[in-house]
Amino acid sequence: MTLLALETSCDETSAAVVRDGVVLSNVVSSQIKLHAEYGGVVPELAAREHLKNILPVAQAALSEAQISAAQLDAVAATQGPGLSIALLVGLKAAQSAAFALSKPFVGINHHEAHLYSPWISGNPPVADFTKFQPNVSLIVSGGHTLLVLVESELNHRVLGGTIDDAAGECFDKAGKLMGLAYPAGPLIDKLAEQGNPKVFDFPRPLLRDANDDFSFSGLKTSVRYFLRDHPELLDDPQKVRDLCASVQAAIVEVLVTKTIRAAKRNGVNCITASGGVTCNRALRSELERACQRNGFTLHLAEKSLCTDNAAMIGILAERKLLKGDFVSELDAEIKPGWALA
Ligand code: KG4
Ligand code: ZN
Repeated sequence: MTLLALETSCDETSAAVVRDGVVLSNVVSSQIKLHAEYGGVVPELAAREHLKNILPVAQAALSEAQISAAQLDAVAATQGPGLSIALLVGLKAAQSAAFALSKPFVGINHHEAHLYSPWISGNPPVADFTKFQPNVSLIVSGGHTLLVLVESELNHRVLGGTIDDAAGECFDKAGKLMGLAYPAGPLIDKLAEQGNPKVFDFPRPLLRDANDDFSFSGLKTSVRYFLRDHPELLDDPQKVRDLCASVQAAIVEVLVTKTIRAAKRNGVNCITASGGVTCNRALRSELERACQRNGFTLHLAEKSLCTDNAAMIGILAERKLLKGDFVSELDAEIKPGWALA
């Protein structure tokens, strides 16, 4: 089975061709530089850029995979959640292609696709579900922080999520307060490498709470007040590195502790993680250490598949097609607020 998948939920225009669990191509055109001067994603700009790029990106994915449109068995796209006018571009392009080719259209929940990206690896990337185990999955990005129990393939239940800011948003906003460019997450990761995480003590919100929810706005506010009271720290490059390491340590400790606790409570032996923040090296190594200590198997999405991409959309769409778990609706609407159940 050969599928074309499109992803335009936020600021990445992506197209992938997937065949029998193998990712034949995964083209991603990132808009990060476009939005950087505004300090965040501007929906109108994102949509205009998606419109400009969607056809070239889809064509590039087909030609890289050496597949002609006539060889496609289905076309998939992210239906939600995401920015309305951004989602619209990918969804309508995919439905138009499916209509023109008289093939099924598969609308995919972006977060559900994140649940399966940790199972895709190698070169070419292959989705290996033979090793699938019930798991607790951490989805952690600029827009979302979710813990999900994945009991079996295509069968999941949301355990908790952030009640305010996402972890990536906390990285970005804390970085902005330090004068770092958007998105600050990768820069904090880099600067933290030479910083001491024990120099400054920031709160670990909801760490001791028994639920699986997160809250990061208080941590961001504590960085704001701290810098208001100690602005001179920003003139010292080593202190900035220490600040980065300390903020990162607070975010990582909360994410790791709550993920491990959720896995224990739900009796699963496997943890997976994906989303842009999963590129963070401290989060990756702390999750590895914690999983080793607790005897858990860990599947981290490869860094290129942590951030938004159409490969994960295509892989999930293929599983749904194989299991007959979808309805082809060429007139289906976008679902900007489509929460994972
Ligand atoms: O998944 P993603 O590309 O897009 C969405 O937000 O949906 O995630 C982007 C987020 C940004 O907040 C960015 O700062 C963060 O992921 N991020 C990182 C790292 N790389 C990306 N945060 C911390 N460390 C990183 N290495
Ligand atoms: Zn995402």
